[in-house]
Amino acid sequence: MEIVITDHPEQVVADIISAEIAAGATTLGLATGSSPVDTYKELVRRHKEEGLSFAGINAVMLDEYVGLPPDHPESYARFIREHFSDHVDIGEVYPPDGMAEDAQAAADAYDELIKEVGPVDVQILGIGSNGHIGFNEPSSSLSSRTRIKTLTAKTREDNARFFDSIDEVPRHVITQGLGTICDAKHAVLVATGEGKADAIAAAVEGPLSASCPGSILQWHPNATIVVDEAAASKL
Ligand code: GLP
Repeated sequence: MEIVITDHPEQVVADIISAEIAAGATTLGLATGSSPVDTYKELVRRHKEEGLSFAGINAVMLDEYVGLPPDHPESYARFIREHFSDHVDIGEVYPPDGMAEDAQAAADAYDELIKEVGPVDVQILGIGSNGHIGFNEPSSSLSSRTRIKTLTAKTREDNARFFDSIDEVPRHVITQGLGTICDAKHAVLVATGEGKADAIAAAVEGPLSASCPGSILQWHPNATIVVDEAAASKL
């Protein structure tokens, strides 16, 4: 696990992705949440101003809310379009189907799709304040595959800021499992701010344990943790 402490996490993550593309990456793993937003902004800037091309690259996503259609303002499919894919020359971005009648069947199909489209060359990750990655809440199996998860009260509270009220935050999601995430060849987690300091300390220096799903990255052969001083303050 490599730890990079920097004033400009978005530059470091964009550098890593640019280098992976230059080295022949064909599949990206995209994350949602506020943590990677500046990275997407920087990648879009490099595309428009410096000719960084995503041609020939496809992408998969980490997760999606169950019950939100892809055009819902808070759906992760829409988030990725608005922050990234609508602004660059990337090929297909495949979101999990949060509207499927049989959500578990959709989750199984998504795990298969990742294997077909992948392997993911570089997976962008954020981390929840309780240590979750994707939507793998604490106690998630370390070898889990893509499946339905029920959100914890803490995660629904954290994500309520994006909705009109907490009642509108979906209770269920489809998320890549920790095993699925670890199939990516390079995992790059970005975290900023003091609110992430405990989660980063647990993920980086705590035991490898399902109580902090982010700690699975200690086991991954090629994981990079990119943090600002505040997120690194408890290391
Ligand atoms: C959500 C997403 C995660 C993300 C986490 C942190 O629950 N499913 O992928 O890492 O929130 O979000 P933020 O970056 O907004 O703090």
